[in-house]
Amino acid sequence: MNAQTTPPYDLVIRHGTLITADAVYAADLAINGETIAAIGHNLDGRRVIDATGRYVIPGAIDIHVHLGMPIGRFTSTDDFYDGTRAAAFGGTTAIVDFVETRPDETMLAALAARRALADERVAVDYGLHMTIGPSDIAKLDQVRDARTAGCGSFKLYMAYGLRLTDGELLLALEAVRDAGGLPVVHAENWDIITTLIRRNLAAGRTEPRWHPRSRPAALEGEAAGRVIDIAAHVGAPLHIFHVSCAAVVERIAAAKARGLPITGETCPQYLWLTDEVFDRPGVLGALPVCSPPLRPAGEPEALWAALRSGALDMVTTDHCPFTAEEKATGLGDYSAIPGGVPSIESRLALVYAGLIGDEEPPSATALSRWVEVSCTAPARRLGFRRKGALLPGYDADIVLFDPAREFTISPASLHEKAGWTPYDGLMVRGWPAVTISRGEVLVMDGEWLGRPGRGRFVAR
Ligand code: URP
Ligand code: ZN
Ligand code: ZN
Repeated sequence: MNAQTTPPYDLVIRHGTLITADAVYAADLAINGETIAAIGHNLDGRRVIDATGRYVIPGAIDIHVHLGMPIGRFTSTDDFYDGTRAAAFGGTTAIVDFVETRPDETMLAALAARRALADERVAVDYGLHMTIGPSDIAKLDQVRDARTAGCGSFKLYMAYGLRLTDGELLLALEAVRDAGGLPVVHAENWDIITTLIRRNLAAGRTEPRWHPRSRPAALEGEAAGRVIDIAAHVGAPLHIFHVSCAAVVERIAAAKARGLPITGETCPQYLWLTDEVFDRPGVLGALPVCSPPLRPAGEPEALWAALRSGALDMVTTDHCPFTAEEKATGLGDYSAIPGGVPSIESRLALVYAGLIGDEEPPSATALSRWVEVSCTAPARRLGFRRKGALLPGYDADIVLFDPAREFTISPASLHEKAGWTPYDGLMVRGWPAVTISRGEVLVMDGEWLGRPGRGRFVAR
């Protein structure tokens, strides 16, 4: 604590309840320029924001988003501006998106091209994962260049056209290990998925309800276990993306018990939704198609328990929306539905609603865990060294969260652009009121004060 009265700070957030991953306490927080300057009492500011009744937390960090990303025939709906603006409205002040390198391109050229797109549009700070696809296996000597250029994490797929074989996974993991990076992985068993899809389509089973039946939970667990074992053999750390089920949690928990540097994330869709939504008629059943798929009742409860216990480390979104028209193009063949759902704006509130809910008063343990899984753990694991905590010297990425605000989620109440949301009609208690990014107020009680291009690339 540093109680200072003169000179006044640029901005003081007064009378709030500060929540960090370790503590909940009443204090003022002072900002000078882009940085947290002090935390104390009776701090004096040229500008003061009254945070009475609000929680003051570090800006949330979403390390898994696909903004304006070409996937198959379509491009995911929110571009770098729309997506980061919606993120800021939802209390997220940093994101990590992806770079994919064409076969005829170097990783550095692909990084420069993606940065050129993002730099002009982002409203909050961002990082980029470098994807290592099959055509990049011949370029693994470039992994170190990408790492030096600020891509601290490398995406490996075990599904889709970018899938790596087990041997390629081994080579990629070795290269990322040698460069000091973090491999992040989409773990599913692609051979079995494609076999089941072929069999279902041949039998005329073409509706979205066959999507989860082609991607069994036990085999997501198998794929996660396999890549964990390969990483352990190689001596590489590993982060498992979008965990949908207990079968994967068990593998991650077992790896942690062995002392392996393995972390896992889940997403709001796996925490809040179940697979019966695929039975809805027409395009309604196609909208929530994402991979891994939503799972049966019981799985979300296991994921919430894993988040509370620490078996899972964080919540991200895998925000990758497509419009209803784009989703409808796969109605005659569920495997052609563009995969992905939106939640970049509602993640922080959905995690709050699940971890704290109607607990009155909320326990300090639950509040700190909410901040840890939404803000602090993503920053630590992905190498945002000045974000994710309320500490002097850190970036002044701050959110004032109103725990009393009742907010009904709908396409009209959100700023996402897909035109639909899987949480349509859900009322949550608790929503971000003010979002500050490096000392600049971006959202003030529903008003947008940000602009495209003010966000910065963060080398990690
Ligand atoms: O269906 C999904 N999740 N689409 C986004 C790409 C991915 O697999 O993360
Ligand atoms: Zn994925
Ligand atoms: Zn993804």
